[in-house]
Amino acid sequence: MAEDTKKRKKKKASGESRGLEEEKLFISLRAGSWEEFYGQESVKHSLMIAIEAARKRGEALEHVLLYGPPGLGKTTLSHIIAREMGKNIRVTSGPALERAGDIASILTNLENGDILFIDEIHRLNKVVEETLYPAMEDYALDIVIGKGPSARTVRLDLPHFTIVGATTRVGLISGPLRDRFGVVHRLQFYHPEHLGVIIKKAAEKLQASIDEESVTEVAIRARGTPRIALKLLKRVRDFAQVKGEGKVIKHLTQKALSLLEVDSMGLDTLDVRYLRAIIEKHSGGPVGVETIASTIAEDIGTLEDMTEPYLMQIGFLKRTPRGRMATQKAYLHLGLTPPHEDTKQQRLL
Ligand SMILES: Nc1ncnc2c1ncn2[C@@H]1O[C@H](COP(=O)(O)OP(=O)(O)O)[C@@H](O)[C@H]1O
Ligand SMILES: [Mg+2]
Repeated sequence: MAEDTKKRKKKKASGESRGLEEEKLFISLRAGSWEEFYGQESVKHSLMIAIEAARKRGEALEHVLLYGPPGLGKTTLSHIIAREMGKNIRVTSGPALERAGDIASILTNLENGDILFIDEIHRLNKVVEETLYPAMEDYALDIVIGKGPSARTVRLDLPHFTIVGATTRVGLISGPLRDRFGVVHRLQFYHPEHLGVIIKKAAEKLQASIDEESVTEVAIRARGTPRIALKLLKRVRDFAQVKGEGKVIKHLTQKALSLLEVDSMGLDTLDVRYLRAIIEKHSGGPVGVETIASTIAEDIGTLEDMTEPYLMQIGFLKRTPRGRMATQKAYLHLGLTPPHEDTKQQRLL
């Protein structure tokens, strides 16, 4: 029993260190400029214009809100924005800002034009959020001095800064906060061709040799997500070093990917468990996400942030007012027989 706990702890620790190692890898591979940032053309274009305009006017950039599933480049973009503005970036996150004082001390230490990146901005608490309103709108902080009847509020001027907020859950951001962002962009999943370019460039940086077919294979299976593409590239390269001669070639790539339990559409074990739960336990749906989450003992947030957006994007999942439904495509991909159209219609009535 004790042995068992020890093993589990060890497993967790090695998983964590892998996470850290991977985080370092992502930082080292992070696109540092527009030239290295591929895809997302419309977001890029609009940010470039906003940045140029702000620079020409000699003003701070408007506040920017970036949202979309994890791994699509929100953090990367915030660093590129700071670089292009020629200003410093300060990085924090919603849950790290506990009290009004936390945000006040960060803001008062910024300089004109600086970027404050707030990751997971949907997790800001109410007090911090309300402190941000005048800060974002008027570059001012309202500070209460004293207590009781003699308390008074003083307004403190702040440097003209820019907040770049990032979130995977834009629906959880309050209206007043959202309204204070002048530039709001949703990042989209990437086309495999764009991921292919990202993979090739990363392989160059890693000095890994990889053939065209492997690039395509990894790009297709990366769930439209650069972070996953880079992670798979790294695993495939490790595999080729151990099992082959170091060169990443097609048959090694395929073996490595199947060992990682990533299927031909890039679905991982969680995606498959999720779809099977809808199909096998809830006759294909409609079923609420809460019910699916408890069926497979997963966190609802994880399903909503990571699993569902991609399954919807590839047309495996439909959201209806009565809940989630697996599509015919999903059945076929899993090698299952889809229900007859009539039965499906009836279930929706
Ligand atoms: N458009 C892109 N071009 C090149 N690399 C990208 C792009 N988007 C993301 N990446 C890479 O993917 C990794 C994860 O991106 P990140 O910015 O951390 O995503 P997010 O903050 O949205 O979760 C980083 O290493 C980053 O360099
Ligand atoms: Mg990020």
